[in-house]
Formats: sequence, C-alpha cells, structure tokens
Amino acid sequence: DGSADGESSLQLTKYECQRVTTLDHYNRKLVEALELLESHALLIGGEQSQGRALAFKRSSTAMKGLPKEIENVDEISSLRHLGNHSLRIIGEILTKGYSDEVEQIRNSEFYKATKLFNNIFGVGPTTARYWYDKGLRTFDDLRNSEIIKLTDRQQSGLDNYDELCEPVTLEQAQRIRDMVQNEIDIILPGTKSMLVGGHRRGKKAGHDTDILIWHPEEGKERGLLTKLVDRLELKGYIKYKEMINIDANTDEAFLRRTNSRGLSDIKEKPGKAMDHLERCFGIFSFPRTLLQLPQNDDNPSAARRVDLIVTPASQWAYALVGWTGNKQYNRSLRLYAWKELQINLSSHAAFDCREQKLLPASTEQDIFNYLKLTYREPWERNC
Ligand code: GTP
Ligand code: MN
Ligand code: MN
Repeated sequence: DGSADGESSLQLTKYECQRVTTLDHYNRKLVEALELLESHALLIGGEQSQGRALAFKRSSTAMKGLPKEIENVDEISSLRHLGNHSLRIIGEILTKGYSDEVEQIRNSEFYKATKLFNNIFGVGPTTARYWYDKGLRTFDDLRNSEIIKLTDRQQSGLDNYDELCEPVTLEQAQRIRDMVQNEIDIILPGTKSMLVGGHRRGKKAGHDTDILIWHPEEGKERGLLTKLVDRLELKGYIKYKEMINIDANTDEAFLRRTNSRGLSDIKEKPGKAMDHLERCFGIFSFPRTLLQLPQNDDNPSAARRVDLIVTPASQWAYALVGWTGNKQYNRSLRLYAWKELQINLSSHAAFDCREQKLLPASTEQDIFNYLKLTYREPWERNC
C-alpha cells in the first residue's frame, strides 16, 4: 500500500497500547498545539467538545508516536488517527511556524482564566467554566467573591497553589516513598510500597507523588491505610486529605460485578475516579529537609500533592498497570482489550467475557500476555 505517498508515508498502530510512546519524541511543537486544543475543548465542555478533545488527544499521541520530525503534511495525511481539524492545524504550523487558531485561543480571556482556575487542585473544567461565566478571572476574584463558595478541597488547593506548582523531582518522590516505607515497616512488617505514576514512567519531575502499597499476604492490607494516615497526621505531614473507598468490598463477586459491566467504565470521562482501591489523596506538608530543599526561615515546610493507594495482593499487577498509566495509555489498553478481545480490564482485574472467567495475574507481563500485546516498559507508556 502507500503507493500514492511513496516512501514518505508513515504508519501507526491502531491503538496507543500497541506502540511505544516515550517522553522524548520528534514533534514537540505540534504536540504542544494539539494538547492546547484538547485542553481548550475540555474547558468549553459539553458532549460535542469532549468528543473533539478526544480527537485532539488521539492526534497528539499519534504525533508522539512518530519515528521522525514531520516536515510536510503529506507525510501524515494517510494516518487515520488525524481528523481534518488536527490536520489543518498541523499544516498551518508546518507552513508558517504557528497556527492562528491556537494562538488566538492561547491569548483568549476565556482560556487564560479557565486554565488558571483548572490548575487549582480540586477545580475541574465544569467549575472553572462556571466561575468564568460568573465573571471571575483571577485568584483575587475567587477570594473576594460573594457569589461562590469554595469547597474545602478547592480552598486548600488555592491556599497552597504556589507550592503545589513546584515540580516534584524523582529524588524527592523517592524520599517521600522511603518515609512512607519506614512508617509501614513499623505498622505492619512485610508491607511493600513502590513509586507509580509519572515517576515510574521516567518523568524527572511530576505534579505529585503516587505510591502503591500492598502486603504479599492477601487480606493483611485491611485497615493499613487508615493506620498509616493516622501516623502521618500525628507527624504533622498532612494538610488536607480525602480517604476514598476505605473497606471497599474486594471479594470475587465484587470483581465480577465491576468487571462485567462491559464498556460502561471505559466510556467514563477522563479524570473520574476509576476504581475501588483504597486511596488517600491529599496535600501533604513536608519538612524542607526531607525534600532536600534549601532552608527557608519563614516556612520550614513545603506542600506537595501525594496519592497513597492500597491494593490487595491478588490485584497488585492490575493496580500497578492502572496506576502507572499514563491515563491515555490505560484508556487505549482498556478500549483495545474490550474491542479486540472482549476482555474487560480495570485496575482490579480482567474479566474475559467470552470465557466468562477472571484472568488472575501476578506480574504486568501476565497481563500483556492475556492481552496478546508486546510487553511495554513503563517509560514506553507515555502517550
Ligand atoms: P503527573 O502526576 O502529572 O506527573 O502525571 P501522572 O501520570 O503521575 O498523573 P496522575 O498522578 O494524575 O495519575 C497517575 C496514574 O494513575 C495515571 O495513569 C492515572 O490514569 C491513574 N489514576 C489517577 N486517578 C485514578 C483513579 O482514580 N483510579 C485509577 N485506577 N487510576 C487513576
Ligand atoms: Mn502523578
Ligand atoms: Mn496522582
């Protein structure tokens, strides 16, 4: 095939999970523009815009997956991953260096204000847009407004905004994990923990620290998260917290139920809670020494976002894939599993709907095998 495009025609697998996508890639400028359009579409909201956001996402992950820098739009015009809108933007950037539409959005009052609000921990696109519609534009507007009431989460996000914008380096994330490991060693010897999320995928700097916790003996993990968080609270490490799915049912009947709902949980909107694992997500306050930050006499601690996730041993491999991400990688994995194999994949388990059975896994490799996919290292899952 490809005779019309000759040797310049590029190919890509249908699903992101079938290809390698690394943090380093060849088309930064195009990806940045497409990601801005995605983000803008999400901020506008509504079903149609969410569809457009997904299309821009598909285009940007396609650009990340290409083996070379694109110089001419003809090189990619045969890729089915790109819609007309994305192709038009890419063509514009390739010919004159920028896109009028992208720059107009970037500088628009709507995008600047809603993006700023959306960057606050606890503020999603819907709230950001609602505030914008009420005429609010700045943090001062939020603080002084008499018409809106911030939730505790949003208030905490706003109060700690500047510190939460500081990136979490890999070294800092490792030190936070070490601290958590020390605590669980005391609470329940034998308990294990590891860094997941962006840091596991090779990011040098993340927006938070994601730590997966488990005990090799099934059931021993019950009650652990509450005890851990109590200890951290006593140490003064916790500024704000939300405990989710504490004591959620994790027996086999539960797994069958949640995993045999077919496409329903795949269709869920990005950003929605996607599983039933016990989790504490919060804003922590760490001594600056723990993070190896320069001392600051006015403020001896620094606020950072932390996610603590506890999984039963039997679900560990699935939880690991789910919490390593990234989000788009998981989305493609679940879509692929369902569409191609009628396997319903979650962060707990996989359910084979044709065979009507659960697929037990003890490693990530097991999961890739069930899905008939080539194993991808965490750093190859950066869609
Ligand atoms: P940065 O934190 O920005 O560096 O990137 P990240 O990829 O670590 O993002 P984040 O911390 O938001 O999420 C880490 C992984 O956990 C991603 O793959 C998400 O899809 C996944 N994740 C986030 N929230 C949930 C959730 O509620 N349930 C499940 N199963 N996964 C989640
Ligand atoms: Mn993260
Ligand atoms: Mn996280």
